[in-house]
Amino acid sequence: MQSITIRRPDDWHLHLRDGAMLEGVIGDTSRDFARAIIMPNLVPPVVTTADAEAYRGRIMAALPKGDKFQPLMTLYLTEHTNPDDVEAGKTSGLITAVKLYPAGATTNSHGGVRDIEKAMPVLERMAKIGLPLCVHGEVTAPEVDIFDREAVFIETVLDPLRKRLPELKVTMEHVTTKDGIDYIKSAKSNLAGSITTHHLIINRNAILVGGIRPHYYCLPVAKRENHRLALRAAATSGDLRFFLGTDSAPHVDPLKECACGCAGIYTSINTMSCLAHVFEQENGLDRLEAFASLNGPAWYGLPVNEERITLVKRDEPVRFPAKVETGAGLVTVFDPMFPLYWDVDR
Ligand code: DOR
Ligand code: ZN
Repeated sequence: MQSITIRRPDDWHLHLRDGAMLEGVIGDTSRDFARAIIMPNLVPPVVTTADAEAYRGRIMAALPKGDKFQPLMTLYLTEHTNPDDVEAGKTSGLITAVKLYPAGATTNSHGGVRDIEKAMPVLERMAKIGLPLCVHGEVTAPEVDIFDREAVFIETVLDPLRKRLPELKVTMEHVTTKDGIDYIKSAKSNLAGSITTHHLIINRNAILVGGIRPHYYCLPVAKRENHRLALRAAATSGDLRFFLGTDSAPHVDPLKECACGCAGIYTSINTMSCLAHVFEQENGLDRLEAFASLNGPAWYGLPVNEERITLVKRDEPVRFPAKVETGAGLVTVFDPMFPLYWDVDR
């Protein structure tokens, strides 16, 4: 039987939501992951350190008994964010990063940043104190095609920002294009990228061929096959600048299966099985630990986890539920469209 033991992984981009949804999904992350960077796009968003502290308390209260899990909190950047509050959050150890959502780019982003100029005082302070900026890297201008929004963001927002503030550490989250991969590779310092589980597995055909499939719709939207191949090459390369951020983003089925469905794919429960499959296909199983457990902590300046997990390849496909039941309703689980044999040995 094939098996592989790696340090316990972390998820460097996760949506846990709140209330009944939080309670329904958190166990799927805490089962396999030691830590996760928690996205702040709640309603209302997590904008101050006091908000983040209260949200952290709700997450810890929802954690299944006995699970050890550390939520790494983020703040939702607005045009009114107070630099002193951000600095206090970092100094106290509560805040790991600040998240930039261009206003209107995705779920609950309307309170995000319209005019980056207005956020410059906070960004300058973050550069000074070494607090990373996590970016949702898509422009929102209606004239820009949705499949080009990442590339245009790099050219018109990210690159100018990095030239202006070279000391700012930037995580380009959920990179979906070869353009993004090439841009990260070309940077000399202070730029890294997270890659999701699903973008390693699906291209845009999954959403659109043979009928419209809302459970494969997320933002940034999956792109052409050549982009997926670039993501797979980067993720499995061992390159320190690329690490796992699942962007697991639960929505209840009625909000996905309707005339204007929400963006988001739920992968917390089967990510490690999916990743082992992908890395094996790419002859890179020996680099799974770098992607899932080593490169992220190195980037965020945190210790690696001491605990280990073992993945075993079963003879029969591993069965994951098609849907997870939460107090908020049913959430469809990501279906990679091939059988999964790798299983976390518990
Ligand atoms: O697909 C996505 N869902 N992309 C995001 O950026 C946000 C997320 C969500 O919160 O549902
Ligand atoms: Zn996200």
